[in-house]
Amino acid sequence: MTTKTTLIGPFRQVVTMNGLALSGSLKYDHLQVIEEGGIVVENGKIIQVGNFLASSKTYPKNIYKIEGDYVLLPGLIDAHTHICYGGSRAADYALRNAGASYLEIANNGGGIWDTVSQTRQASLNQLEFQMSNRAEKHLKEGVTTCEVKSGYGLDLGSEMKMLEAIKSVDSKSEIDLISTCLAAHIKPKDFKGSHSEYLLFTVNNLFQFLKDNQLSNRIDIFIEESAFSTKDATNYLSVAKQYGFSITVHADQFSTGGSEVAAQFGAISADHLEASGEKEFKKLIKANVIGTALPGASMGLGEPYMKGRKFLDLGGCLVIATDWNPGSAPMGDLLMQAAVFGAQQKLNTAETFAAITFRAAKALKLDDRGVLKPKAKADFIAFSTKDYREILYHQGKMKPNLVWKNGNLITPAQDR
Ligand code: NIG
Ligand code: FE
Repeated sequence: MTTKTTLIGPFRQVVTMNGLALSGSLKYDHLQVIEEGGIVVENGKIIQVGNFLASSKTYPKNIYKIEGDYVLLPGLIDAHTHICYGGSRAADYALRNAGASYLEIANNGGGIWDTVSQTRQASLNQLEFQMSNRAEKHLKEGVTTCEVKSGYGLDLGSEMKMLEAIKSVDSKSEIDLISTCLAAHIKPKDFKGSHSEYLLFTVNNLFQFLKDNQLSNRIDIFIEESAFSTKDATNYLSVAKQYGFSITVHADQFSTGGSEVAAQFGAISADHLEASGEKEFKKLIKANVIGTALPGASMGLGEPYMKGRKFLDLGGCLVIATDWNPGSAPMGDLLMQAAVFGAQQKLNTAETFAAITFRAAKALKLDDRGVLKPKAKADFIAFSTKDYREILYHQGKMKPNLVWKNGNLITPAQDR
């Protein structure tokens, strides 16, 4: 961590994301863009953002000079991933594109269950190694905070193994990983009992362990015909709430129902929402639930996108995340997915950037990042261009050349 005060710049433009509303549509021209900007960091935090020349008079001693034309943005935040897994589902992908449906493949022993088998077989070290490669890739592409779910273990030991792997990679790597327990992903095929018995078993054997070992303070459940019913979810989430967990829900991916439960429990976010319409959106918004679009899952499955434009126009807080997982969303490219989703849904630049910065931070209950302003974490990324509009225009092909995490430049200069 940079302990001494350092002024970094000049940047042709600094897009601060400051002063924008936490929910609802945004005006394109409300983006705060500081021309010829500089950013002052100390102890991993931002202490000033402003004109470079003016800052250089206040902080003349330690200047990290940026040569060339760069645009600075806050580090990106991916609020929904499943990057802790073993194996590959390339065969599923090929089968789907040959006409088999996601649910058919799952019913025939492929799908999530296949990844569960491969994740159970992987050792803790193997899981950590593979996940940290994915996390490293994300960091290089500008993702400085990333949520990661369990949910491919589905027995006590394997769920614990996944959550321990996430905690360990978080402590060893520079990216911040936020873990979520998704033991309620599907009912494991080898559990002898009903769906509700499996959830009860999970509550009784896992919840206290998560608390005692600080493995996660977030609980997720997949509500869908192929996973858990709204009734099962209601019982499960009632207990999760009593334990004080934050709740997030895989909702309305193929059929509606999950969003209603998310609203009822005041979930922090409802994610997917491809099947939701105005009625579902209104309930979520009334209950202050963030709607997280997962365009990578729509791309991977060849399914429609969440109606993000509609959700914003109704006043919702829209987040975009990758859902990076081996089945439905194998790509894991946040910037590309946000750019393509934004073009399809007619989101303006402010709305798309908000969905992968400070609004995504809100979905993880983090209020110290996603915006470039004093006291925020010094997580920011620089793109080699003079004009911030070039970034989404290149639809994800333009990656950041420089990434700072906690004030430290983590991309070596020779790799630029
Ligand atoms: O968010 N929808 C449920 N779970 C994941 C997919 C997991 C998988 O296919 O392995 C999702 O898309
Ligand atoms: Fe997911």
